[in-house]
Amino acid sequence: MSSVNRFDVITIFPDYLAPLSLSLIGKAQASGLISIGIHDLRDQTTDVHGSVDDTPYGGGAGMVMSPEPWGKAIDQVAELAPGEIHELIVLTPAGEKFTQELAQELTNSKHLIFACGRYEGIDVRVSDFYSKAKNFKVREVSIGDYVLGGGEVATLVIMEAIIRLIPGVIGNPASLDEESHTLTSESGVLVEYPNYTKPKEWRGLNVPDILLSGNHGEIAKWRLEQAQIRTKNRPS
Ligand code: ADE
Repeated sequence: MSSVNRFDVITIFPDYLAPLSLSLIGKAQASGLISIGIHDLRDQTTDVHGSVDDTPYGGGAGMVMSPEPWGKAIDQVAELAPGEIHELIVLTPAGEKFTQELAQELTNSKHLIFACGRYEGIDVRVSDFYSKAKNFKVREVSIGDYVLGGGEVATLVIMEAIIRLIPGVIGNPASLDEESHTLTSESGVLVEYPNYTKPKEWRGLNVPDILLSGNHGEIAKWRLEQAQIRTKNRPS
């Protein structure tokens, strides 16, 4: 199956997404493996103030993002990948927890749209509307149990985790097989073994002899044991 190649992000702070032009993701765009569009939600507003939020029905603190600018923005970016199923990722601390498994799964969607909410979030009818639309799939996603100022940083995290899994993005794909969270044990995830590089001795600390032995079978065994110990001892 071919991998995701089009990403669109809708935000009121397009500059927050500037890191997407750097490093691996910047190179993946330059080489044409992926394309990324960043869209300012305020372009969809009609009043002079560019209002994107309003007070919540039922009362309460804070402001809620209005559905109409979101509807217009999402309809517009969907046209950038005609004929595809659009996977709309709505960033919210109330969403499904983002994991390596979900990153892997999302590489199979052709078009990902990230909706970066701010304030008290986006009027839920936006998710409800697109959940019923036949060419959309909606997922509310959280990167962890803490509250950020908005979905932009969460989008950076999720995009980076997905894009590095796309074939051709990482120079040495073998490194994907060995790293944290890709190996599975009976209990699910096995974190990566400890890594060392030159020099052999640094500030009185030595590289374990086994890694200098050249015995690849024994090294693989040691690394697996170390990964198991780390997995067991890792605070949850
Ligand atoms: N928006 C605010 N907090 C968030 C979180 N933890 N994950 C995703 N989006 C968010």
